Amino acid sequence: LASHLPSPLVELWSLREDTLVEHRGTDVLVETRWGDTRLDSPPSEITAVLRMMSLGPVSLDNVVPGFSRDPGPQGSPQAAALQAVLRRLGNATVRSLAASDGSPLLSVVPVSANAFFQPDLVELDRLYRLSAFAVLRYSVDGLMLESPLSYYRVSLHHTEAGRLAARLGIPATGWSMMTEFETLAELDMRRLLGYLVAAGVVVQDGPAAFGSFPEDSDPVLENWAPYELMMHARSRLGRSDLPFGDVGSGGKAPAGPVPDPGQRLGLHVPDIAELTATDPPLSAVMDERRSLREYGRWPMTAGQLGSLLHRAVRVRGGHRPYPSLASAYPVRVYLLVQECSGLAPGAYRYAPEAHELEVVQGPEWARAEVLRQAQAFAGLPAFPQVLLVMTAQISRIASHKGLAYSSVLKEVGALQQTLYLVCTAMNLAPCALASGDSDACAQAFGLDWASEPSVGEFIVGSGVVP
Ligand SMILES: Cc1cc2nc3c(=O)[nH]c(=O)nc-3n(C[C@H](O)[C@H](O)[C@H](O)COP(=O)(O)O)c2cc1C
Repeated sequence: LASHLPSPLVELWSLREDTLVEHRGTDVLVETRWGDTRLDSPPSEITAVLRMMSLGPVSLDNVVPGFSRDPGPQGSPQAAALQAVLRRLGNATVRSLAASDGSPLLSVVPVSANAFFQPDLVELDRLYRLSAFAVLRYSVDGLMLESPLSYYRVSLHHTEAGRLAARLGIPATGWSMMTEFETLAELDMRRLLGYLVAAGVVVQDGPAAFGSFPEDSDPVLENWAPYELMMHARSRLGRSDLPFGDVGSGGKAPAGPVPDPGQRLGLHVPDIAELTATDPPLSAVMDERRSLREYGRWPMTAGQLGSLLHRAVRVRGGHRPYPSLASAYPVRVYLLVQECSGLAPGAYRYAPEAHELEVVQGPEWARAEVLRQAQAFAGLPAFPQVLLVMTAQISRIASHKGLAYSSVLKEVGALQQTLYLVCTAMNLAPCALASGDSDACAQAFGLDWASEPSVGEFIVGSGVVP
């Protein structure tokens, strides 16, 4: 298939769509996502250029002659002044490559306050390929290339730019790509690849060894799975321009099992005054907490389970014993009971307001599969006596953009430690588990895996009498 990448390419400059250029007396205030930059009485040509750039991509060579030439001592003072201003606005400046009729091929958009895009013309005898950390996906601006390693996202507006990105899924030299994208002039291939390399979504081999890409043997990156690094970069401030924080509107009601009021079981309510008098001191509990995978001769009792859930999970005065972002409490606790005297084996959901268990209907094979995996994760000789599975009602936390899933995992950690401490105080055997099977849990508890995914596992049984 012949490629129709347009050539020659022109470089265009614009400001991020959320950037405002405003007059303040003789000064100009440029308001960006990451803060304001005040320009003291800039020449009117500069203000005019910034205004143009806030409306859309502009060829700066057309408006400021000699802009992209090395200014040097003989260079134009307007070009030098504009370059100085643009250096200050690096994190708000979008760089595009376009056909000579102005139709855009791709744009490099800064997503971090630290961004300062400096593309170079690259050499065609080097090998190029997509970064192993780059992700290519649909967005309303066109195909989008992004990477957690990058301070930019690249919008591929033209289908041929998308083809070039797809071609870079397999390493190739610039020269060999010239034969495949033959409408492109050499200079434009060097520029196009230079943009993608500077944007951090395409990597170049060497320089020490032909055919080897430094990111593949980077001792820091080796520790990261690409999707985990992406989640890290997108769930914290600093390397993302996605909406972040509470936007106020929640998600839709989660799909889940409809509670059957006829199948609710009351749980033991411990006497807090008695516990206060008889519990071991907090410092002793903290000191003794361990993950225990051996159980007493007799299984734990329904009374102990009721006490544990009451002390660690129940709602008391709108709050719970463990913290949650904005009191959203998206995490719910389900139970698979294998052996607990006074409670029939089966699947249950804990109702933390009423302090009750709701019987949950799910297929026997799914319950067995979830228990089998818990047994394997803990290296137990048999199914655990009781498995607690934590799920998250994502809609309850969805308004916290960029934070939702990472907060859920932190909440699981807080809840697990609370369970550990209460179990220790009660001489029960607690152990957190590293993972579980999202699909098997959804089946076992009749949940939709994406609306209310399982996010944490914890096993508990009777303690060995000391
Ligand atoms: C996030 C997390 C995941 C864990 N996963 C498992 C697991 O899958 N199997 C297991 O037997 N223990 C698991 N544990 C328990 C740890 O192995 C245990 O906390 C660690 O060895 C320290 O021992 P201690 O808890 O007795 O102090 C996990 C603990 C945490 C916090």
